[in-house]
Amino acid sequence: MKWRVHSIGRLCGEAEVPGDKSVSHRAALLGALAEGASEVQGYLEAEDCLCTLAAVQALGAEVTRKAAGHYRIAGGGLRGLSEPADVIDCGNSGTTARLLAGVLAGQPFWTLLTGDASLRRRPMRRIAEPLRAMGATIVGRAEGTRLPLAIRGTATTASLRYATPVASAQVKSAVLLAGLVADGPVTVVEPAPSRDHSERMLRRFGVRVVSEADTVTLTPGPLRATSVVVPGDVSSAAFLLVAGAIVGDARVTLHRVGVNPTRTGALDVLAAMGARIEATRPADEGEPTASLTVAPGALRATTIGGGALIPRLIDEIPILAVAAAAAEGVTVVRDADELRVKESDRIAALARELARMGAAIEERPDGMAITGGRRLHGAAVSSGGDHRMAMALAVAALIADGETVIDDVACVATSFPAFADTINTLAGTTAIEIQP
Ligand code: S3P
Repeated sequence: MKWRVHSIGRLCGEAEVPGDKSVSHRAALLGALAEGASEVQGYLEAEDCLCTLAAVQALGAEVTRKAAGHYRIAGGGLRGLSEPADVIDCGNSGTTARLLAGVLAGQPFWTLLTGDASLRRRPMRRIAEPLRAMGATIVGRAEGTRLPLAIRGTATTASLRYATPVASAQVKSAVLLAGLVADGPVTVVEPAPSRDHSERMLRRFGVRVVSEADTVTLTPGPLRATSVVVPGDVSSAAFLLVAGAIVGDARVTLHRVGVNPTRTGALDVLAAMGARIEATRPADEGEPTASLTVAPGALRATTIGGGALIPRLIDEIPILAVAAAAAEGVTVVRDADELRVKESDRIAALARELARMGAAIEERPDGMAITGGRRLHGAAVSSGGDHRMAMALAVAALIADGETVIDDVACVATSFPAFADTINTLAGTTAIEIQP
């Protein structure tokens, strides 16, 4: 599937952003581990999170779709899952694979996990090592560090204090989930705090989790079913916010966006760049949510780096690179080498694809330098199968001269299936034409 994208002069109105991907995955997994039936509303019905729902069903949880985004997930408690009859396919979703591996480390049966070509290239040593230390057997490709992986858990995992070398919520969450059946407390220490959705939701399900700066400790114990309301995904909102910030005549309001401080680094960076984004006072829905309104403003370059900031905006760097290309001055992104092991190598992909549109981007080992203010022009580009690259390129195309054709865009279904429709509705025209 391709998109043909035309430039626009206007982007106005209100839009819903899809449910938060990270929160949706956790709701499915914790619902499946709880005793009783949990109700989840606002669940992201996109490929990644549907993979997680299919996975928990394959493990024996009962999943009922009651309405769009509204699911009942009935689990049988920490000991209620059973050996799946077939390989579990995690698709494109690193969160499914890594968090599920954590759950499976505490289940005394074999499960085989695989994924698509992108996910099979992504590093799994980061979860395999601590989960093995907790007692799981994990074998597979590349000495058990790449999918497909076979995991045999243990009924009681070993208590662990784990200092992870990467600030990764997927690693932290895998260890915490394995720790639910541990023989003592489990602690994860991170180089900088990563998103804390697992901690918040585990508490909601009745588990004792104590967080202090970059250290989280979980006391093993059962989960009791509860209700979860999933906020809008700030990572999806970021594409619309940057579009609003760079298109000439814009005023876009997004409702119920999750503004968990561990996720809002992009809002801080856009404010530092001079973007005009107003937020309402956060409401508490288990996760803080707010309405965000963006209006255009002249953007200026900034520096995006530092161990504490990068985990708060790691998924937003592709779209921040587009904002930087539209800003005056040189924006430097550093300390972001994790970008090389996302759905694609996003540093290489941004440098290559945005350059085709006339942007000046210098690739660096841990980031890039973007000289903004150059006029972008339409070109033939490709997402490389990476949903966030597809959407970032589409936003760049909204301000480029001429037509841009973006190849390989079906991947947007992993996180924001209605992206093109949402842009077209706000633009009041077919800015993004979908071609099969
Ligand atoms: C996620 C954590 C981040 C993020 C990913 C979702 C999560 O990955 O990039 O899109 O839901 O835990 P890392 O944990 O690898 O940093």
